[in-house]
Amino acid sequence: MKTPSIGTLSFGFVGATVVLLLAIGAPNSRVAPPPAAPTAPPPPSVSARGFSLASTSVDLPTDEGQYPAGPHADVINANCTSCHSASMALNQPPLSGDQWTAEVTKMREVYKAPVAAADVPAIVAYLTAMSTKQPGAAKGKAQDPDPKAAPDVSGGSG
Ligand code: HEC
Repeated sequence: MKTPSIGTLSFGFVGATVVLLLAIGAPNSRVAPPPAAPTAPPPPSVSARGFSLASTSVDLPTDEGQYPAGPHADVINANCTSCHSASMALNQPPLSGDQWTAEVTKMREVYKAPVAAADVPAIVAYLTAMSTKQPGAAKGKAQDPDPKAAPDVSGGSG
């Protein structure tokens, strides 16, 4: 009788082991996973080897690509969103009609914005209406607060 080679023997051994593991492993693999533990909030700070890492949260100004709906929104979206997002104007403090006219003129003359002269009044009207809707303090998170700009009218005993 021919003696089986080492290769044949080890192949048989590996095969037998695989069959055995499959047989044993199968029932276990059907055990339902334990219910997910509620995730604890991350620790506010972690320290190790003289270093401390603290979590913090920051309020970034939102970046709106398009101007929100309103009268002439289509005109301003067609003319004023090709170079920068709407946030560039939306994050300005409230401006008057004259100031917005100057702003649009600057876009056209300095930055060569391809805005038809006929569209300027509608754009200025949109921006001015937007400024009027802003409360005195504006959406001003991005601007530095100027206490003089918002006088205290709360009527406290002062
Ligand atoms: C040709 C490109 C271009 C177009 C189109 C354009 N802008 Fe600008 N805009 C610029 C550039 C460049 C800046 C300066 C960006 C900077 O300072 O980082 C800017 C800045 C601004 C600012 C910030 C204040 C300032 O003066 O820097 C506002 C507000 C603004 N644009 C509004 C508008 C409005 C409204 C329109 C549509 C009439 C418009 N932009 C169209 C290029 C453009």
